[in-house]
Amino acid sequence: MIEIVDVVHRPEFERYLWKCISPMPYRRYRKRGEYLKRAIPGGLRKEILLLNGDAVGQIEYAPAEASGYPIRGRGIWVMNCIWVLRRAGGRRLGKLLMERMLRSIGDAEGVATIALEGHHSPWMKLWQMEYLGFKPIDHRRLRHRVKRRDICFTLHLMWMPLRPGARPPEMDWAEMLRGVDFCLAHPLYRAESWGLDVVYETC
Ligand SMILES: CC(C)(COP(=O)(O)OP(=O)(O)OC[C@H]1O[C@@H](n2cnc3c(N)ncnc32)[C@H](O)[C@@H]1OP(=O)(O)O)[C@@H](O)C(=O)NCCC(=O)NCCS
Repeated sequence: MIEIVDVVHRPEFERYLWKCISPMPYRRYRKRGEYLKRAIPGGLRKEILLLNGDAVGQIEYAPAEASGYPIRGRGIWVMNCIWVLRRAGGRRLGKLLMERMLRSIGDAEGVATIALEGHHSPWMKLWQMEYLGFKPIDHRRLRHRVKRRDICFTLHLMWMPLRPGARPPEMDWAEMLRGVDFCLAHPLYRAESWGLDVVYETC
């Protein structure tokens, strides 16, 4: 049995606003708190997919102004994250979560997100975002300023227009070089321990 739960408006699922479906412990941390404080009034949505009561999928999205990435554009929504655990794979639950998002964002111009190619983490891979229906429209080759400096990876801006003539979004690349703060488990998270304001550089 599949159930998709809106965790922004269901207090009994509030812990999923702070953690994702990864086995990471539930912890209220400052950066996520700051993000939620600005993003919830700005329209943030997060849904968890339960398969027979087991949380195996999630999707988080917001209007561009309240999103976790510095993506700009009028009438554009940004998908911060989508994830279906491997043990629940093969059921196209990712597409189900996408359909849920597309229904709830109504008359948006389109949805943007990011994708990674050649990054050491297994997350947000280009082929997965393409499978979900996004197309790459811009990219930069980046490397971490401290960790694995020998590895350059590609960060793509991904786009899914929902209306004819929809104006594509733009990435504020200078801001993106700082990394992201909205989720501790994100592959581009700006860990405090680096002591860096800008985490990435072009290569
Ligand atoms: C993208 C994602 C949501 C899709 O989940 P899903 O809908 O459950 O995916 P499924 O297991 O049903 O497989 C989807 C398709 O990918 C295909 N696929 C699976 N592994 C593949 C691979 N290594 N290469 C190419 N295609 C592959 C499947 O054959 C299937 O195709 P089909 O629909 O034509 O049959 C899921 O893979 C995922 O969560 N990936 C990680 C995303 C991520 O990094 N999130 C951020 C965490 S910080």
